[in-house]
Amino acid sequence: MAKAARSDAFAAAGAGDLGYTISVCTDEAAQDRALAADVSAGLGSMPKDIPPKWFYDDEGSRLFGEITRLSEYYLTRREHEILRRVAPEIATLSGAGTLVELGSGFSDKTRLLLDAMATAGTLEAFVPFDVNETALRATAAGAAAAYPGVATHGVVGEFGADLPSVPSEGRRLVALLGGTIGNFSGPERRKFLAEIAGMSSAGETFLLGADLVKQRSRLLAAYDDAAGITAAFNRNVLRVINRRLDADFEPLRFSHVATYDDERQRVEMWLRSEGAQVVHVRRLGLRASFADGEAMRTEISAKFRPAQILEELATAGFAVLAQWLDGAGDFSLTLAQRANGSRP
Ligand code: SAH
Ligand code: AVI
Repeated sequence: MAKAARSDAFAAAGAGDLGYTISVCTDEAAQDRALAADVSAGLGSMPKDIPPKWFYDDEGSRLFGEITRLSEYYLTRREHEILRRVAPEIATLSGAGTLVELGSGFSDKTRLLLDAMATAGTLEAFVPFDVNETALRATAAGAAAAYPGVATHGVVGEFGADLPSVPSEGRRLVALLGGTIGNFSGPERRKFLAEIAGMSSAGETFLLGADLVKQRSRLLAAYDDAAGITAAFNRNVLRVINRRLDADFEPLRFSHVATYDDERQRVEMWLRSEGAQVVHVRRLGLRASFADGEAMRTEISAKFRPAQILEELATAGFAVLAQWLDGAGDFSLTLAQRANGSRP
């Protein structure tokens, strides 16, 4: 059963009707509890490991926006290029009236899809879904202003817990863009894709943006840029833990490291302790020792082969309708349809 969510609605400036609504499924207190559990488990594991969703407080979301504009970070530009070319085809093939965007962030590229659906005359509703409330509200407000008459319903939620709170009205196209699917481990990814299939009715569609395997040097540069923005993004997770759990990480005593594992086809980001140090997480009554050079993993970013994406979607219960790459073959977008059966 869906959890109770705090909902509020805002009147559009100058208009009497609602501009957009926001449901908060995962509030600050729930996030603190989840972070406490992740930090407690992550600092106790070997190697130490913090899930990447904790990057995205307001500063982390802002830094991610900067990353998307870096010359080394090709992912966003390549996905934008594909969307610019095929958004009208996606609107036609999906026949959707509602666009649900998971991990929407600031939804910059999403405008291409919304415009295509509006031009096709099908756009009725937009549902951005993100764990970061500030980004979500900015996205919802922007969409409500740009598409008056379209119902905009933002959901502040967690992928792992809050998909059942996604509104089910209308024929939906669910989008997971940006390569975010790569931030799940293999088993987490299978589970998440199956959950997305499970929340979809027969005929509803799913659009997946996934980064592709390529030259190691380009992958490493994308995750270790010359200006140090990715390093700041990586260290930001320590500031999040300090603030929310009253910890005393000294971010500058950790260096940013990006690696590429050829066999597992994934970039990993780590924070390496410069010198031996002890960190206290006072809200948890926890003390964690770092040896000199000890690295804590903060993110995996899996890279895919196009055929592998088709296989994984089929395993999850989707029939693939189309797959597109950008001109350089760096990034992929795959449109799939819920094969059969309907959501319970
Ligand atoms: N889709 C955008 C943003 C990608 S960044 C793009 O393509 O550029 C990843 C986004 O997913 C962030 O906005 C982050 O806040 C959100 N996110 C990360 N982990 C999440 C989780 N577990 N649940 C919900 N949202 C999450
Ligand atoms: C959101 N996600 C797809 C990004 C990625 O490329 O894995 C997050 C990121 N990490 C470092 N740079 C960007």
